[in-house]
Amino acid sequence: GAAGVGAADASGGVVVTTRLADRPATETDGLLRDAVHVLIDNWHGHSTVPSRDLYPHQWSWDSAFIALGLRRWAPKRAATELLSLFGAQWSDGRIPHIAFNPAVDPDAYFPGPTFWRSADVVGHPPIDTSGIIQPPVHATAAVAVADGLGEDGAAFARRAYPCLVAQHDYLRRRRSVGPAGLAAVVHPWETGMDNSPAWDTPLHAVPADLSLFDTYTRRDLEHAGTGERPTDEDYARYIRLALAYRDHGYDDDWVRAEGAFCVVDPTFNALWARAEISLADLAERIGADPSGHRAEAARLTRALVDQLWSAEAGVFLARDVRTGHRLSERTVSGLIPLVLPDLPAEVVGPVHDTLSSDRFRVGRVYGVPSFDLTDPRHDPQRYWRGPSWLNTTWLVAQGLRQHGYTDLATGLEDDIVALTAQSGLREYFHPLTGTGHGTDRFSWSAALLIEVLLSRR
Ligand code: SER
Repeated sequence: GAAGVGAADASGGVVVTTRLADRPATETDGLLRDAVHVLIDNWHGHSTVPSRDLYPHQWSWDSAFIALGLRRWAPKRAATELLSLFGAQWSDGRIPHIAFNPAVDPDAYFPGPTFWRSADVVGHPPIDTSGIIQPPVHATAAVAVADGLGEDGAAFARRAYPCLVAQHDYLRRRRSVGPAGLAAVVHPWETGMDNSPAWDTPLHAVPADLSLFDTYTRRDLEHAGTGERPTDEDYARYIRLALAYRDHGYDDDWVRAEGAFCVVDPTFNALWARAEISLADLAERIGADPSGHRAEAARLTRALVDQLWSAEAGVFLARDVRTGHRLSERTVSGLIPLVLPDLPAEVVGPVHDTLSSDRFRVGRVYGVPSFDLTDPRHDPQRYWRGPSWLNTTWLVAQGLRQHGYTDLATGLEDDIVALTAQSGLREYFHPLTGTGHGTDRFSWSAALLIEVLLSRR
C-alpha cells in the first residue's frame, strides 16, 4: 500500500479521460457485451453473486445496484434478483446484508452461515442470512425495475411494496436514535464502506483480539492482496462486534444502548430518504397512499441537514452516538446526500465545491475518491480508504445531474467507462492512475457500466 500517495500528489497532474461520446461504437459494444457476460456468469439461478471468488452469496446493496444493470436487458431477472433478496427478510423487517446460498460451501466465505446462526432467531427467514443490514437502496432500484418491466411493472410493485415498507419500518422502529430519528448503524459493514477512515475512532475503541484468528480464518485474503483489504486488527474488531450482536439475539434495544459501535452515517440516511421518495412512487403505481413516504423523505432530509451537515467541513459528517461527537473525516459518504432533490441550495453549492476542491478533485482524477486525497491516511489501493468505487461515483453523478451540474455528472459517467475500459470490471480503482484493485469481474461494476452506456444512448 502506497499510503499517502494522494496527499503527496494533491497538486499534481490532471487526469484526462476519453469522453464516452468520442468512443467508437465498436468499442462500447464490446464493453457492453463483456459486462453482460459478467452478470450472466455471476448469476446463480435466482440472484447474482457480487463476485464468484470473494463474495459467493447474495449481498444486499450489491443486489440493488445489480438490478439497475439487469433491468436494462433482462428485466424479469432484475425483478427475481430483488424478490429473492426479499425472501431473506426477517419478520422484524430487516433485510440482511448477506443471504447465504445453501448450494455454496459454508466455508467458502467468512463469516458464513455457521457464524451468524440466523436460524436461532425467532422470525428468521427460510434460508440462512447474516444479522446486520446495509444501506437501503432497494426501493430506488425497485422503481427502476418496475419501469423496465413495462406492463408487468405494477404486478412487481405490488409484491415489492410491502417488503420495502417493512424494511423502512424496521429502520424507524428499531434503528432510530435521538429526537431527529435518523437511523444508526451498529457495525462498519452496515455502512457498506467497511474500513472507511471515518470509523477509525469509534472502531479503535473496540479491542482487537488477534487470538480470534485461532478460531476463525479470513477467506478474503485468498482472493485479494493484504494491501488492498482491511487489516487483521480491524477484522478482529469486526468479528467481535458481530459476535456480540449475535450473542444478544440481534436485539436492537441492546445494541443501540450498549453495542460498542453505534454511528449515524450520512450515506445510509440519505439513501433511506431517497428510498422514501421511491416508495411514494411505487405507492402511486399500486393505488396506495404516497403521502406518508413523502413526509418521511422531507423529515429525513431536514434531519440530515440539521444533524450531520458541517458548513466548516463542506461535507456531511458522521456522528458517533456513543460519544455524541461528529467524526471529522471527509469521505465520499459525506457527499452522496447530493442525491436528495430537496437539499437546500446553501448545502448543495458547498458540496459541489468540496467535490471540485483538492480534497476530491472530481473532473481531474478518476471517479470520486472514497476518502480525502489530502489526508495523510489516504491509501489509494486499500478498500474504502482512498480508491474510487463505481457505485459511489455513480451516486454522486446522479446527485450532480439532479442539481444541474451536468458537465461534472457527465464527466463522472465518462470516468466509469474509462476505468473499466482501461482496467476491466474491477471492484475499485486507484483514483490517480486508474489501475484496478480488489476482485475482478465484479457485478456492480458491470451493472453500473451497463446503466451508464445504455442511459446515454
Ligand atoms: N464487505 C464485507 C466483506 O468484505 C462484508 O460485507 O466481506
